[in-house]
Amino acid sequence: MIREVLRMGDLRLLARSQPVVDFDSPGLSALIEDMQDTMGHLDGAGLAAPQIGVALRVVIFGFGANPRYPEAAPLPFTILVNPELTRLSDEEEDGWEGCLSVPGLRGMVPRWKRLGYAGYDVSGKRFEREAEGFHARVVQHECDHLDGILYPMRMRDFSRFGFTDLLLPGADPADD
Ligand code: NI
Repeated sequence: MIREVLRMGDLRLLARSQPVVDFDSPGLSALIEDMQDTMGHLDGAGLAAPQIGVALRVVIFGFGANPRYPEAAPLPFTILVNPELTRLSDEEEDGWEGCLSVPGLRGMVPRWKRLGYAGYDVSGKRFEREAEGFHARVVQHECDHLDGILYPMRMRDFSRFGFTDLLLPGADPADD
């Protein structure tokens, strides 16, 4: 079911979400299905459970070849529950981000360039991956939502924050 995405200003987006303890439950499957439907409907690159008002540590992300992110290699669809992130180098990288909870806007956000992440799939099976570039950026953006952090709260240069159609002429005005 497609759910309403909360927008910045809604205090639920600033809350810290709780770990999932009950894996392989109908509730968790239904939540992930709704998140997938909602992300697909809005053509997003990722979505976190708190964005649909559920304060659990669940994120999804993934995209095929996307003209909106021509520099980004396709990322397989991933369900990540109770994520743990580990920084793998001191390097940071600036990049444009949007958010379904901050519609119509983009901002330049510094993120770790390389990271490791671990967590659980929908059935409670643990997995680990390494990521860099846009993949690493998406993981950091989505996992931030679980701690009540929206991308503008990570920005250092607000001269590079504004409406997508003005900042990035020709870009699709939809958000990730
Ligand atoms: Ni977001």
